[in-house]
Amino acid sequence: MQTQKELIQQGFQRAKLTYAQNANVQQAMQQKLLAILHKHCKARNLGNILELGCGNGLLAQNLALNFEFESYLAVDLVDFSNDFIKIQKDTSHKIDFLQADFEDLVKIGNKNPDLQYDLILSNASMQWVNQWSFLPQLSALLQPNGILAFSTFGTENYQELRASCGIGLEYLELKDYVEILQSDFKILESFGVRIPLRFSSTLALFKHLRDTGVNSLQRGFKLNKKLLTDYAVRFHNVLTYHPIYLLAQKRSLESKPKDSPSNS
Ligand SMILES: C[S@@+](CC[C@H](N)C(=O)[O-])C[C@H]1O[C@@H](n2cnc3c(N)ncnc32)[C@H](O)[C@@H]1O
Repeated sequence: MQTQKELIQQGFQRAKLTYAQNANVQQAMQQKLLAILHKHCKARNLGNILELGCGNGLLAQNLALNFEFESYLAVDLVDFSNDFIKIQKDTSHKIDFLQADFEDLVKIGNKNPDLQYDLILSNASMQWVNQWSFLPQLSALLQPNGILAFSTFGTENYQELRASCGIGLEYLELKDYVEILQSDFKILESFGVRIPLRFSSTLALFKHLRDTGVNSLQRGFKLNKKLLTDYAVRFHNVLTYHPIYLLAQKRSLESKPKDSPSNS
């Protein structure tokens, strides 16, 4: 039987040719993430950057047009190396791609031993891992005062799918991120927005999910006529996206909360 990671990889691998045309919400999230970076990172040179779940590299490309940086390592489960070769040529920036599970921090660390990043970025990807255990580990990869900036999805994401089909990922609330991050990070930005998308039919809605790589929400899930009819009647072919945005700064040792366990 395939592992959950293999299913995720397969979903996004299959969507390689359709993702860019259909992932409008994810692309809007990239733009918002860049705007948040502009607001908080006043230096034009962002130093050494690590991007997790980079997909086709559009965020890296846009970032290269707006900022300077020393190095950029982009990681994804799916092989996007050809896209990155092209981006590197087009932007004349040093942007490396690593095909890996971004939870494998040893492999990521081995790529640039001894480097502590100035910025860790991720757009629309963090929801695929257990954020409670994963996010705190990112502190070790960052310089003191380094920035963790990411977008992901909140608890109302795909709420209609959960209600009608019982499928969905474990999305978190903004207050959960305070609990997850507060001992090592100071949160400088956190907010969510709701984006309801209406489709011409329920079939078009499920095709949209497939074309954006999201066919691994639940192992063994099968679409049937009753589900389609039920969805159309209850939700009028609307699918809600619930993007959330966070920007947090790694605390320096002196600024850690006194009762933080990692400070003892
Ligand atoms: C919704 S796409 C977002 C892609 C890109 N960041 C964007 O903004 O369009 C999620 C990406 O995360 C990748 N991904 C999911 N889980 C991953 C993991 N554990 N390690 C590496 N990549 C992962 C998928 O392969 C996919 O390319």
